[in-house]
Amino acid sequence: MSSKITIIGTGSVGSTIAYTLMVEGTASEIVMIDINRDKSLGEALDIRQGTPFCSPVSIYAGSYQDAKDSDIVILTSGVARKPGQSRLDLAQTNVNITKQIIPELVKYAPDAIYIVVSNPVDILTYQFCKTSGLPEHRIIGSGTILDTARLRARLAEYYNISQQNVHAYVFGEHGDTSFVPWSLGNISNIPIAKYGDCLTETGTVSPALVYEDVENYIRKSGGKIISRKGATFYAVSASVCHICKCVLSGSDTTMTVSSLLHGEYGIDDVCLSVLTVVGRDGIKGKLMAPLTDEEQGLLRKSADSLHEVINNLQF
Ligand code: LAC
Repeated sequence: MSSKITIIGTGSVGSTIAYTLMVEGTASEIVMIDINRDKSLGEALDIRQGTPFCSPVSIYAGSYQDAKDSDIVILTSGVARKPGQSRLDLAQTNVNITKQIIPELVKYAPDAIYIVVSNPVDILTYQFCKTSGLPEHRIIGSGTILDTARLRARLAEYYNISQQNVHAYVFGEHGDTSFVPWSLGNISNIPIAKYGDCLTETGTVSPALVYEDVENYIRKSGGKIISRKGATFYAVSASVCHICKCVLSGSDTTMTVSSLLHGEYGIDDVCLSVLTVVGRDGIKGKLMAPLTDEEQGLLRKSADSLHEVINNLQF
């Protein structure tokens, strides 16, 4: 089945997404759009020349009108964090950039599913929901899908178990107020709090997990990678391509992505990540997973932090 994906922004994230989509054979047509035309031409040519080893796919640099009839449009454009910066430091700058882009996209691809990746992703997802005029269910922020992947990878390493057996999530802002609702976490249906006790002597007995250390590791991972290599792009691209595959497959899948809340957990008018069902038409709904009072308090704290930023922005 043919599928067209347009990527706005051909920096390291946008280009790695295009490359990953090609290698995974997710799309039959990939359009790469960037304000720097030479960059988009160069990236598209470099990726296209690898297609003989992959499923047939047409990859080219285009302009906004080439986004026409896209199944999915992925927004990666904007200024990226520098070492020491928080994602929220980019807010007004990237809101201003996104403000220029939204009308062009709505004009040429009004029926697409939108995946917002640019940071601060929860703020830009909110901006898209509030200003594009498109149905909210077709606007997905990558949110904490990457943080959840980082958490699962870390727990799998710690307990020396396959990541497929690890079910744990990061909720809230894709940023410093994110948190892990540990009450939901399990390994093969054994609550993480009890898992260490269930390991027989043949298993790898680890000292008890320090939840705060794991959460700090997740929150600081992006910044740590940026301080070492200048940017992050592989894991976030794999995460976004997973969202694309789930949308295009049409099989409803749960994931922690950012969307507009309307009273869930007592939270309104902000975009952040909770367990969400994503299908062919975008956001199908949210799973109101039972959270402890403390976890609900952390989610509200994350929402309050985002509300504070939103109230001080010009959209
Ligand atoms: C990170 C970017 C995608 O956390 O925010 O790597």
